[in-house]
Formats: sequence, structure tokens, C-alpha cells
Amino acid sequence: MKQIISVDIKTRKTDLAKCKTDVLVLGRFSDDKKREKSAQALDEKLGGAIARLVKLGDFNGKPGTSVVLYGDGAIAAQRVMVVGLGEQKKATLDTLRKAAASAARKAVSLKAKTLSLALHRAWGGKLDGAAMGRAMAEGAYFGSYQYDEFVTQGENGRPDALKVEIVDPEARAVKALDRGVCEGAVIGAAQSFARTIANRPANVINPPTLANTAREMVRGHKGLTCTIFDETQLKANKMGGILAVGAGSKSAPRLIILKYTPPRQPAKGSPKVALVGKAVTFDSGGISIKPSANMDQMKLDKTGGIAVLATMKAVAELALPVNVWGLVPSAENLPSATSYRPGDIVTTYSGKTVEVLNTDAEGRMILCDALAYAVKQKRDTVIDVATLTGAVMVALGQYKAGLMSNNDGLIKQLQAAAEDSGESVWHLPCGEEYADEMKSKIADLKNIGGRWGGACTAAAFLQQFVGETTWAHLDIAGMDIFQKATEYASPGSTGFGVRLLTTYLMNLSKKK
Ligand code: BES
Ligand code: ZN
Ligand code: ZN
Repeated sequence: MKQIISVDIKTRKTDLAKCKTDVLVLGRFSDDKKREKSAQALDEKLGGAIARLVKLGDFNGKPGTSVVLYGDGAIAAQRVMVVGLGEQKKATLDTLRKAAASAARKAVSLKAKTLSLALHRAWGGKLDGAAMGRAMAEGAYFGSYQYDEFVTQGENGRPDALKVEIVDPEARAVKALDRGVCEGAVIGAAQSFARTIANRPANVINPPTLANTAREMVRGHKGLTCTIFDETQLKANKMGGILAVGAGSKSAPRLIILKYTPPRQPAKGSPKVALVGKAVTFDSGGISIKPSANMDQMKLDKTGGIAVLATMKAVAELALPVNVWGLVPSAENLPSATSYRPGDIVTTYSGKTVEVLNTDAEGRMILCDALAYAVKQKRDTVIDVATLTGAVMVALGQYKAGLMSNNDGLIKQLQAAAEDSGESVWHLPCGEEYADEMKSKIADLKNIGGRWGGACTAAAFLQQFVGETTWAHLDIAGMDIFQKATEYASPGSTGFGVRLLTTYLMNLSKKK
């Protein structure tokens, strides 16, 4: 199997004109009047070629646009790429992250082996140096990623490795950038890891092989341990939800339990967190089978669980002083002679019984056991992440994940992490009315609600399993499935949730 492109990121102090590289990248706002001096000096060496492009209207600096010029010996770089940053007043750290991603994506398509980013210079020091370094590093990982492990006869080869550097002529700026680049490289690599595991098809990743992947990941990481509940242990623990969903597949279900021990004590009062992620390695719908069009995308129904694994990897590498577990229930949802059926009544780990009215509403069936387990293990804050409903895609499209919660403080913390990480969320309700729809006449709950508000009724179902524990639910169905290529992303899994959850935990660790 081919290796995914390997990325390596550093910072370097250099004069832009003297920067020897395959591609040197500058940023430009669409309403930029006075150009930043290092970019200006570089353009003078190029005989004013960039200014001419702008004057002719061939490059307008809109987001998502870019232009490539050739160094032709006038400067040390082979090429200069100018990336559009849009309007100055609208620009955020995510603008920078996306610009870095789009530059990296283009660099890979140009078969560049070295990429030097000076995008941050356009801000002229208005943003924090470390934050800019982190955003560019995350973006470089994100944009250079493409899933081609199984391509043996592609026509367009790509380099095996991309060496990225964040360059700046000032030593002080380099120092600040460098702090962020170190963090960004860890987070970016974790997100790429998530994308690769997620993009692997269901004939490669099933619950047992996913558990092996988790075991392997933990092996190289200090502070992480991994326990796997196989079918026997799931039965011994009466995890009826996970067992029911997994019953139709020859690959038996698993519960992956990752525990992190921080190298130094978390701050006093810092919560014991559990991240819970849905990992349905293939969701055919089961007996309530899905239509065949685009069913291939349902190999991505495991991305919530994988985001949790990758976040645990990042947490360990960043050595964050937080107390966190990762719980990943995993099953394959298939129709067969041994599948669970519509009408079945399942007794879940919590003791609550669930009438199954649709076997395609399987995510909540496996999550409810893991959530109840987290509560039983006395975790203070429980956050689940799942490609749970098509309904959340109807509500929010492919721009924001749904956020439901029983705690205003946690909502604020996750909204702040979303802002910082560029992985966007939108608060949706899950109160009593929705919970009422999930009541069954012949069991405690049923697994589907009425026709409307499906993302909210699904969340309300989950809420029944956390009691008074502080809890949030992230429905990421729109963010990681059915993704098309954009100027800064290749198609397939986006690894959504890795940056968001890692940022949430980093912010926790910064609090006094
Ligand atoms: N994994 C799906 C949700 C999904 C659908 C994600 C489309 C991404 C794109 C989930 O298990 C599911 O099938 N949900 C059903 C629930 C319904 C039966 C109440 C849905 O959304 O249709
Ligand atoms: Zn389903
Ligand atoms: Zn599903």
C-alpha cells in the first residue's frame, strides 16, 4: 500500500527574495491598498509582475483564488504563488488556515517538494504570531492531504514528501510563529491520521481492525492506554445496544476505551472528560436498508469515533494537563439472518429498554451504551461526536455541525473552540418536547421520533442516558460524509472534530 504524503513543517528566518524553495507563498487581501514591505521588495525584484497582474484585473485577491508566477532567476524561489485572502475586515485566523491549505493543495498538484509560506505577513503583525503559525501548519497538513493509498497506477504521480516552512525575515516573528507551528503540526498530523483511517473502506476497517488500529496508535504514545471490550466482554457488561447493532455482521462489535494520564496534574477543578465517538464501520441501514445510491459513503459513518482516537493521539503528543478518556463503540450495520430487526426490544447497558423501529437509527443504539458507561465511570463532562442524522444536514448543510447540550457553560466552551479551530458548530435544541417523541408504549424509549426535527429527537434520545452529567452532542453528519473537492480540500473524510475537540481540551488546560 502506498504511504499518504508525508509532511514536515518548520520555521525559518530568511529574506523572501533569498528564499530557495519550489513555491514561495504570499497572501493578498482583495482591498489591499498599501502592500506589506517584504512582499513589495520581492515584487520589485520580479520587475513588478505581481502589481501588473493586479492592475490588469487578472488577480483580485478574492478568497479561493490564486496565481502562480515564475522566479526566472530574479529571486531564489522557483515560483511565487499569491493567494487571495478576501476583504481585510472579514479575515480571521481561519482565512489564513484555508489560504495555507489551498497553497499546499496546489503545491502538491505542481509536484513541489518544498513549500515556503509567508502568508501571515499580509496581516502585518495584527494577529498573534503563535496562533498564525498554528493555523498555517494545520492548513498545510489539511491542504496537502489526499487519500491515494490504493492507487497503484495513477497517471499523475506526486512527491512522497512535502517539506513546508513558515518563513519570515524577522527573528522575533519566527520565534513566535514557531511555538504555534509545533502545536499545529501535531494537530494537523492527527487530523490527517483521522482522514486516512476514515477513508479506508469497510473491507479494511471493521470493528476488530479499528480496535487494532487504536491499539497500535497507543503503543507509540506515553500516557495512553487502550482496553478493548470484545463480544464476550460486551455481553458480560450487558451492552445490549452495541451488541444489537453488531449482530448482523461477521465482524463482531467492539468498545474501544482509551485512557490518558497527563504528565502533570490538571488544574484543580478541571473536569474528568469523556469523548465518545460513533464508529459504525459501514452503515447499510441493516434490515431497514438504505437506498443503494451513494451507499458507499456510509463507510464514513465511523468518523466520529475516529475523530476521538485522533484527538487522544494529539492530546498525548501535546502532553496536555487534562484528564480525558476516549470511548469508541464500533459496529457494522448489515442485514443478515442474525441482524437485529424492527420491532425488537433491546435492553441497553443503562438498563433502559429501547423499541427498535428502524435499524438505520443505529448510531444512537451504540452511543447510548458508551454514554451510560461514561456516566457510570463518573466522568464529569461527556461529549459525543457522531455522524448521527441526515436531518442535521438538511438543517445546517455542510458548513456547521449541530451542537446540542444540557449545559450552557459547555455550549460556550465548544463554541469558543469552534471559533479558534475553524471547525464550526451551531447550537440546536433537544429539550423535553423532543424527548417526549422518543417515548415508546411498550418499552422505555423507541429509537426514532416523528417526521420533523430528526437531529433534535436523536439528541434527545442520547440525553436520556447521561442523567445530570454535563453533556454535549456534536452531530457531524454534514461535515464528514458526501464531501466534494474544494480548492483547499480533497474529497473524502475531512477529519472534522479533531481540531475542535483538541482545541477544547487545550483551552481547558489553559484555564486556571
Ligand atoms: N449514519 C446515518 C446518518 C447519515 C445519513 C449521515 C446521511 C450522513 C448522511 C444514520 O445512522 C442514519 O441512518 N440515520 C437515519 C435516522 C432515521 C432512520 C431516524 C437518517 O438520518 O435517515
Ligand atoms: Zn443508519
Ligand atoms: Zn449511521
